[in-house]
Amino acid sequence: MPRRAYPARMRPFDDIARLERAKALDRPAAVIRGVVQRLLRNRTLKDALHGVWLGHPLHPALAQVALGSLVSASLIDAVGGGRRESSGLIAVGLASTVPTVAAGWADWSDSHEDQQRVGLVHAALNATAVACFAASLVRRRGDRGTGRLLSLLGGTLSVAGAALGGHLGYRQATGANHGEEVPHVGPGDWQVLGPLEEFPLGQPVRRLAGDVPVFVLRRGGISSDVTVLSDRCPHLSAPLHEGELSEVGGEVCITCPWHASVFRLRDGGVVHGPATAPVPGFESRVEGGVLQTRVRTLPGVPAS
Ligand code: FES
Repeated sequence: MPRRAYPARMRPFDDIARLERAKALDRPAAVIRGVVQRLLRNRTLKDALHGVWLGHPLHPALAQVALGSLVSASLIDAVGGGRRESSGLIAVGLASTVPTVAAGWADWSDSHEDQQRVGLVHAALNATAVACFAASLVRRRGDRGTGRLLSLLGGTLSVAGAALGGHLGYRQATGANHGEEVPHVGPGDWQVLGPLEEFPLGQPVRRLAGDVPVFVLRRGGISSDVTVLSDRCPHLSAPLHEGELSEVGGEVCITCPWHASVFRLRDGGVVHGPATAPVPGFESRVEGGVLQTRVRTLPGVPAS
């Protein structure tokens, strides 16, 4: 009988994956989502929390500070290290939790339902960990033993919460750039999209450039009047050609049909999140009345 290359069950990872299908979490998720969306109506604030200004999701970067400080404090307490050092780290961790949590809820409110189920448990573990560390900070003044115990419990819960955060980021691709592979797999040689006159004026349509779905918008009769972009939203892969055209700051933009990210057509740049990465662009030309396209490569990235 052939040997298995890996175990049939990989606990606890199978259990984490099961959370994605835990429909019991949908009701609390709907209530919390409504509250978060009401609190984050201000688009400038929401964009800042998503990390649009950074070009990356903000939450994972902030989480490094919070998690690093709190787990370090827990380890110092575990080996009986200095109270001042561990207390200071807990204070830094608790302070950095505030923006970390705000950025996390902003991202969570614009995610798929299976991501939201895992995200809820991730948040619950982290909230309990933070409560343990806050109690530890208070208790250690009089009763160091209890303070240390609470710190150890907080550290353990933080690590469990971080494992779910890793699952959200790597397995479920929350916050990942869903357009990253396009410059690598998009066709580097010219692909025929069809006769230019068959593309409706002012109406985005979807076509295939090789295997890659592209968004095509014709605004006139020459190649410079045509915009070709990847048709997948970099946030969570929505079909951009189903979005709405608008003008923002004098620029023609497309609004994603799923979570309303707004992208400039000129260069695919992000105007509003939750997306933080631009839409990959394509070059276009018209030869004999036929529209052709090929992927616009990034510097140093060979087209396939
Ligand atoms: S898929 Fe979420 S904004 Fe486009």
